[in-house]
Amino acid sequence: MEDKLSFEYAPAPESRAVVSIKPKYGHFIGGKFVAGTKHFPTINPATEETLSAIALGSKSDVDAAVKSARKAYVTTWSKMSGKERGKYLFRIARIMQERAREFAVLETLDNGKPIRESRDVDVPLAAAHFFYHAGWADKLEFAGLGTSTKPHGVAGQIIPWNFPLLMLAWKVAPALAAGNTVVLKPAETTSLTALLFAEVCQQAELPAGVVNIVTGDGSTGALIVNHPGIDKIAFTGSTEVGKIIARAVAPTKKSITLELGGKAANIVFEDAAIDEAVEEIVNGIFFNQGHVCCAGSRLLLQENVAEEVLSKLKTRMAKIRVGDPMDKNTDLGAINSHEQLLKIRELSAAGDLEGAERWSAPCELPGKGFWFAPTIFTGVTQSHRIAREEIFGPVLSVLTFRTPQEGIDKANNTPFGLSAGIWSEKGSKVLWASQQLRAGVIWANTFNKFDPTSPFGGYKESGWGREGGRHGLSAYLKGVSHE
Ligand code: NAI
Ligand code: MG
Repeated sequence: MEDKLSFEYAPAPESRAVVSIKPKYGHFIGGKFVAGTKHFPTINPATEETLSAIALGSKSDVDAAVKSARKAYVTTWSKMSGKERGKYLFRIARIMQERAREFAVLETLDNGKPIRESRDVDVPLAAAHFFYHAGWADKLEFAGLGTSTKPHGVAGQIIPWNFPLLMLAWKVAPALAAGNTVVLKPAETTSLTALLFAEVCQQAELPAGVVNIVTGDGSTGALIVNHPGIDKIAFTGSTEVGKIIARAVAPTKKSITLELGGKAANIVFEDAAIDEAVEEIVNGIFFNQGHVCCAGSRLLLQENVAEEVLSKLKTRMAKIRVGDPMDKNTDLGAINSHEQLLKIRELSAAGDLEGAERWSAPCELPGKGFWFAPTIFTGVTQSHRIAREEIFGPVLSVLTFRTPQEGIDKANNTPFGLSAGIWSEKGSKVLWASQQLRAGVIWANTFNKFDPTSPFGGYKESGWGREGGRHGLSAYLKGVSHE
């Protein structure tokens, strides 16, 4: 007889029967799937199982995609009324909703993120971006961006692996609403939902060539960036690659937006509601395994509440369920790639070496796949690498401050400026702090909230321009001043 009640969860795996993954994929060019030449495997990072073979886009593939996008722009898309374009965007949004389960399962298999997140966050938000921009397509002259705006033409779009479908939506929806056609390249580890999206374009009877998807790695991305037939580049990814792209585009007439890295400060003042703050500190850094550009990766605690916050945080972290991303009860899934796992390990080792103190939540990690336990470092100083560099994993660096001004100064002491969080029950302090923080998005008493109507983007090395809202729309129109 058991003397203790057990509150263990029974396994609750989502079925993968809803998706059919082909053994091999090509590119989506001119409304058709065309065979690739060379291929590379895409794996499930939770099991290391090979899911499919993805085509490595070559110069001739990129040429063909740009040519087809140009043709579609000239002959169809630029001639169509905004109202007609909007109908296609609405149709795409509705099909994404109808096929939501398929998208969520595929995203989780290819990316490693928990099904709960792909199902409840990535896919609904991706559809929401199409709905939102569908509404703008016939109202561009009322967006406050001028009445003589025009699309750029062909947009080249390169996206990362952390939110594969959602980043596609952030790129494709405004581009199409504004009247551009696109050539999009998904990240090499997460191409499958973009290829499913290509099927949705076919199903929506989107005119051929309006959306082209070329898969591949950084070399394919560079071919898109440097292609003379492209008018606008939109990139989301590392600051390192963002700088390469900025240099490549500088001597050309291409328009450019960059969404790069971050090292967000999440600032807890002494008058914060501590229990609520702890819940959102966890969401801020452990959502999507910490593979989030705006993750609250630097926790700044006012000294007199630091001990209480840390003790509650550890208790809460011990309850995070790490494991099978397909299980509906999982909170923290697999690290997206072996390469990324090595980077997280390397930066964490630097934290140990530089004298910070590591604490990881006790949890059992699966034997296969790429995993990292939820971890915090205390005793971090501003010069430590783990306080300055983007770890892009489930690792939180904790610093303390005495006065509110010191908290702000430490928060701003970073090469990045994408997002920040403020925790205080006092409205005047929230307003005071948010006015001084150099960050594109500031959350107060919450964290990681996204909405298609709200512009997103950074200061300093976090990038150029905004995505979402009217600001994001302006990046896909000529004749509007950006930022
Ligand atoms: P990355 O910046 O190399 O990759 C992002 C995208 O850019 C991928 O589609 C990739 O194929 C493409 N790309 C790579 N080199 C290119 C080039 N020279 N020209 C054009 N496109 C190119 O990011 P990676 O290597 O996957 O991750 C490295 C680190 O970057 C991460 O550890 C993280 O710190 C950061 N990162 C930040 C992201 C963010 O949203 N802020 C997203 C992804 C990575
Ligand atoms: Mg790379």
